[in-house]
Amino acid sequence: MTATPVRDRVTRVDAAVRASEPAGDYRRLTLVAPEIAVLATPGQFVALAIDGADSALLLRRSFSIHRVSADAGTVEIVVADAGPGTRWITRLRAGGEVSVVGPLGRGFTSPSAPRPCILVGGGYGSAPLFWLAESLRVQGCSTHLILGAATERRLFGARSGADSVDEMVVMTDDGSAGATGLVTQPLPELLTRTHAELVYACGPMGMLRAATEIAEAHGAQAQVAVEEAMACGVGVCMTCVLPITGDDGITRMSRSCLDGPVFTGTAVRWDVIADGRVAVPADCLGAPAVTP
Ligand SMILES: Cc1cc2nc3c(=O)[nH]c(=O)nc-3n(C[C@H](O)[C@H](O)[C@H](O)COP(=O)(O)OP(=O)(O)OC[C@H]3O[C@@H](n4cnc5c(N)ncnc54)[C@H](O)[C@@H]3O)c2cc1C
Ligand code: FES
Repeated sequence: MTATPVRDRVTRVDAAVRASEPAGDYRRLTLVAPEIAVLATPGQFVALAIDGADSALLLRRSFSIHRVSADAGTVEIVVADAGPGTRWITRLRAGGEVSVVGPLGRGFTSPSAPRPCILVGGGYGSAPLFWLAESLRVQGCSTHLILGAATERRLFGARSGADSVDEMVVMTDDGSAGATGLVTQPLPELLTRTHAELVYACGPMGMLRAATEIAEAHGAQAQVAVEEAMACGVGVCMTCVLPITGDDGITRMSRSCLDGPVFTGTAVRWDVIADGRVAVPADCLGAPAVTP
């Protein structure tokens, strides 16, 4: 495996908005940020300041990088309207401006030799996977993408992304597009058929856990891009910590903005993550001693 280096150059750019286009329930924004475009790798993210009438929102909001064009100097993101900050971003239009910090975090790691790879994206979680698939293809890997969402409108890339991969399977919970069922449902068959040893997943925590467990049961390794709520995005505040077990077998509360957002799936302590809450495992380094 070739490790993705953590970039020591993080840049803040006042980015012009080149385009804002609807994409189902989301908006795809193209931002002019050449300093970030030239450094970013698939799986990294950017943090946008919230301005205008909502400028009392002090904290930046994080978004996976959908794709970059180093030639055009642009960075694209896909944004769901989830609250006041994302609403302000989805209302930005071409000609507007937004402060962007990035590239942040550790991205996906590529295999050291050409291999079949499976990518699993839930909702807007598929946004970084097309760029990843294209870079895996350049390295000679075959790419098989499972795209899933609750409904057709919450799928991202079902039409525009087909050319980026060798095979695409679409799933929706309600059957409004593709087959009916969860995005992880076709994974066992795909693993068996392709003999893939690598699964890349981005989406809700439950999906990431399921992808990890299915991959492990088939002798494959999952890399998961987590989306833990973040405040600073740059490793200072500890808001984003998750229990991660290192190669030494010790679990530590690790910052997903700095050590992640991409982790080896089996390193994540899924046993203490549920319903959007994360507990500190009793065996975690530095966990408070429990007195009987
Ligand atoms: C590494 C990373 C990558 C992300 N990539 C994308 C992306 O590509 N596209 C996208 O639309 N969103 C993405 N998000 C989520 C996005 O950052 C949040 O939706 C956003 O911060 C919410 O801000 P708000 O002011 O609109 O809403 P708030 O009022 O702050 O929150 C609205 C709702 O969203 C929930 N929420 C807040 N933060 C997060 C979070 N980090 N993850 C999930 N739910 C959250 C809150 O619990 C609340 O229910 C990503 C988050 C992280 C950490
Ligand atoms: S968000 Fe502040 S340390 Fe990760």
